[in-house]
Amino acid sequence: MPTLDGKVAVVTGAAGGMGRVICDRLAGLGASVAAVDLNEEGITDLVVELRRKHAAKCISVTCDVSSSESVKRMTATVESKLGHTNILVNGAGYLQLVNFLDLTEEDWDKMLDVNLKSVFLVTQALLPGMMETKYGRVITISSLAGKVGGIIAGIHYATTKGAHLAFTKSLARLIGPLGFTANCVCPYMTDTDMADVYTDEQIEAFETQNPMGRLGKAEDMAAAVAFLASPEASFINAEMMDVDGGYTAD
Ligand SMILES: NC(=O)c1ccc[n+]([C@@H]2O[C@H](COP(=O)([O-])OP(=O)(O)OC[C@H]3O[C@@H](n4cnc5c(N)ncnc54)[C@H](O)[C@@H]3O)[C@@H](O)[C@H]2O)c1
Repeated sequence: MPTLDGKVAVVTGAAGGMGRVICDRLAGLGASVAAVDLNEEGITDLVVELRRKHAAKCISVTCDVSSSESVKRMTATVESKLGHTNILVNGAGYLQLVNFLDLTEEDWDKMLDVNLKSVFLVTQALLPGMMETKYGRVITISSLAGKVGGIIAGIHYATTKGAHLAFTKSLARLIGPLGFTANCVCPYMTDTDMADVYTDEQIEAFETQNPMGRLGKAEDMAAAVAFLASPEASFINAEMMDVDGGYTAD
């Protein structure tokens, strides 16, 4: 039985490994979905597939989430085609493996723009519309790297992921009084294109270090997002939800 009937969901990073499955899951639960990504072809194909599978209304919106102008255009498109947003999933991001001593100022700035400034821009742009509704959920895909540090993953990447946690805790205090929630999902290494930057040996190590002996799957993350987006999770606010097979165990 769909639990998100009548809700509007915006998913950034929708063309990515997790984003595609998250969009599919939310549309399957009855939400109208705006699939947002820089990868125009990826979201166009995704929306064809979503419309084929689900009755929900789905649109693709090409957007660079690190650009305020692009985010403004995306917001106007979503609001004119689907209405005010109820569920925002901040999933867009990228990973760069680089040793700390080789990290350049340009690397640092780009990472902070794409992975962090984007979350501020998109959330701030969609929040006024969300506040016109009676239902609000902001779910940001952080990472274990933000909780326990990530040397292989690049200190600049881990820094953005740690900042997602502080951003979300602050937002949760701001929007909690409205009955809205803000939460993070913190995935373990997950089997998407993003994991392609690791060698086979590194992937094997990630598998053996995990209590469950495997990487995460996009479906694991989508299930957590769908729960946090649902009415059942209405009292779960400022939660940093590890989806990590028990790796962190905190
Ligand atoms: N895969 C993992 O192991 C893993 C682990 C922890 C956290 N995460 C996080 O999960 C989220 C989703 O990752 P994924 O595994 O699906 O990665 P992915 O590389 O498959 O997808 C990321 C998507 O973000 C989009 N994107 C990048 N820059 C953008 C921009 N400026 N504007 C709009 N879209 C942009 C890309 O086009 C891509 O479709 C990311 O935030 C990532 O940091 C991933």
